[in-house]
Amino acid sequence: MAFVTAGDSGFDGAVAVITGGAVGLGRAFARALAEAGAAVALVDVDRAGAEQTAAQLRGDRARAVAVVADVADEEQMAAAVQAVVAELGGVDILINNAGLHLMRYNQPFAALPRAELRRLLEVNVVGVVNATLACREAMRARGGGAVLNVSSMAGYLSTTPYGVSKLAVRGLTTAFAAELAADGIRVNGIAPGLTTTESTLGELPYSLMQQIVAERQLITRPGTTDDAVSAMLYLCSRQASFVTGETLKISGGYPLYV
Ligand SMILES: NC(=O)c1ccc[n+]([C@@H]2O[C@H](COP(=O)([O-])OP(=O)(O)OC[C@H]3O[C@@H](n4cnc5c(N)ncnc54)[C@H](O)[C@@H]3O)[C@@H](O)[C@H]2O)c1
Repeated sequence: MAFVTAGDSGFDGAVAVITGGAVGLGRAFARALAEAGAAVALVDVDRAGAEQTAAQLRGDRARAVAVVADVADEEQMAAAVQAVVAELGGVDILINNAGLHLMRYNQPFAALPRAELRRLLEVNVVGVVNATLACREAMRARGGGAVLNVSSMAGYLSTTPYGVSKLAVRGLTTAFAAELAADGIRVNGIAPGLTTTESTLGELPYSLMQQIVAERQLITRPGTTDDAVSAMLYLCSRQASFVTGETLKISGGYPLYV
């Protein structure tokens, strides 16, 4: 029996699509995959940000392209994947990272105007469906692939519109694991806790961040993009070839369930 060793992650020569790849977690995922030898496509609504990140990665000798598309728009997402296949030759990995997550979406349903609730669900939930189905044929054509959905610890509490959207992302992980298995596509998720991306640092007061870390976590430091990157690299690698339909909490031990 042959064991998969650390050298066979399968990223060298692979093509990865990262939605919301311009900044934050998406940029960290793209950088890590590029460093591991993958070509990366940053699909984002933020043209300037995506182009800047792609240019930085190319400066570090990676193959990187920026593609402008709104994940909530089925046709834009299909066209984006077509452009990636034309430019980079196919798709092996999809990171469903684009998402709306600011405090605005963490208030009661009664306080969030219905139009904003619809947009939240269109981006965070339907966006995952659009990107996954847009990549399916390209992955199947190369013998399969790996999808990683970025949920959140908020998807376990599910007390706010954001939390409910991320609970749905966990549901999509099991649904697509089942639906795409016959195409050789594994679908997993991660559920980060509070993570120090620019957007979180820019919005949450430092004192509140410290309070969350001290009162809710067992490991009392804030989560970093590196923590999420490590989990992503495992779940998308050949080492995880027997793992599908799972969501891994990256949260410093909160919340604990038996
Ligand atoms: N930062 C955290 O503490 C944290 C914790 C748990 C989960 N998450 C999840 O991780 C993901 C990334 O978080 P982040 O902090 O890096 O976010 P961020 O807001 O810093 O970056 C999100 C990126 O997605 C892009 N984007 C937004 N809407 C889009 C759309 N409709 N189509 C295409 N691109 C779009 C943005 O332009 C941006 O580049 C989100 O799904 C978020 O819910 C974040």
